Amino acid sequence: MKLASETLVRPARNVRGSVQLPGDKSISHRYGMLAGIAEGPSRLENYSTGADCASTLACMGALGVKWERKPDQNVIEVQGRGLNLAAPSEALDCGNSGSTIRMLSGIVAGQPFTSEMIGDESLSRRPMERVIKPLTAMGAAIESQGGKPPLRVSGGRLKAIDYKMPVASAQVKTCLLFAGLFADGETRIEESVRTRDHGEIGLRAFGVQLQRKSVDAGSEVRIRGGQRLRGIEARVPGDLSSAAFFLCAGALFPESELTLPNLLMNPTRARLLDILMQMGVRISVTQLDEINGELVGSLQAGGGALTGATIAGADSAALIDEIPVLAAIAPFTEKGIEVRDAKELRVKESDRIASMASNLRKMGAEVEEREDGLKIPGSQALHGAEVDSFGDHRIAMAFAIAALRADGETLIQGADSAAISYPAFFQTLDALCER
Ligand code: S3P
Repeated sequence: MKLASETLVRPARNVRGSVQLPGDKSISHRYGMLAGIAEGPSRLENYSTGADCASTLACMGALGVKWERKPDQNVIEVQGRGLNLAAPSEALDCGNSGSTIRMLSGIVAGQPFTSEMIGDESLSRRPMERVIKPLTAMGAAIESQGGKPPLRVSGGRLKAIDYKMPVASAQVKTCLLFAGLFADGETRIEESVRTRDHGEIGLRAFGVQLQRKSVDAGSEVRIRGGQRLRGIEARVPGDLSSAAFFLCAGALFPESELTLPNLLMNPTRARLLDILMQMGVRISVTQLDEINGELVGSLQAGGGALTGATIAGADSAALIDEIPVLAAIAPFTEKGIEVRDAKELRVKESDRIASMASNLRKMGAEVEEREDGLKIPGSQALHGAEVDSFGDHRIAMAFAIAALRADGETLIQGADSAAISYPAFFQTLDALCER
């Protein structure tokens, strides 16, 4: 998604305040899909306000699911249709959303009709082999453009598979668990690196039984086909990957004080908190609760000395969505940040390694770009510059954070791509800044 908007970000002296984050994007997608294939109504409070999660709801609507937004209550009400969806009369438009096309393909693969799934220019460049191969093994027939969207998925009754995922991807894991609901027998999925487990937790919240266990550094999940889901009432916890931008802004100012209530604290997502604390950021969590299987807490954070970090191996998968903003604050750390084993970043909404390197250089930083990551030395000063979002929400927001400590103003081209996950991001950031 390439938008024309430009936003000017001025340097700040400090950040301070309290932010209620919109609902987590990963959980919202899954709840939106699960509510559609559940029996009975679901009430989803604090559903993500981002355009990506709206794409998921629009696709569910095209598959015959009735849903309604109640903006005054910040609620989405969904009337589940059970496992049998209606054949869509037009293509399912997944917009910019990799999560929508990959996870929903697992559901439409189980339907006795053909669905065409399309997306914008960025989504049309992203690899789909990772879902095409295992869904084909389960019995779906999928046509693609050389492994990329559009996808034509002809589904029906599926066969269970035993599948070890070659790429660490929670989207693929969730896709296959969803497909497993439509399969004869028990589907077993193994990942060698642990990825976010909202698919597993969400399925259980909707009444599905599944078995999980750790396998070395990864995990195994088994799901039996034919299980029925029942609708739920849920409050989606605040998005930790969106909170990452404010936490990193706070990290830049020793006097900062931030409060983030009702934030997702799922251990498969919270590695950022450990890394920031290791770098010297003060973080404390209060009021920890479990809601529909997800950990939720209130977080207080404040700046300190910022040492630096190396992100590699399993950490690169665990921090995949937070690496852009960590890279954006890297020049302001003492020793810099090195990212390795993160070549998946090259096939996100943009080639994030190239996007980060290009923008950091425009702001005057020295950066070493590598195939699977980058090395950004610390103790560097940045100057304001014209940078590009590359149509990528996380790049737009990451460089708004770098801009807070730059010398002079920064113009972000395509800044409204932030609306993919966080439409109110720039206003919220502005309200936190002391200038
Ligand atoms: C997501 C998984 C990650 C992440 C994406 C959301 C999810 O993608 O980058 O923003 O909700 O499962 P991959 O599964 O491709 O790693």
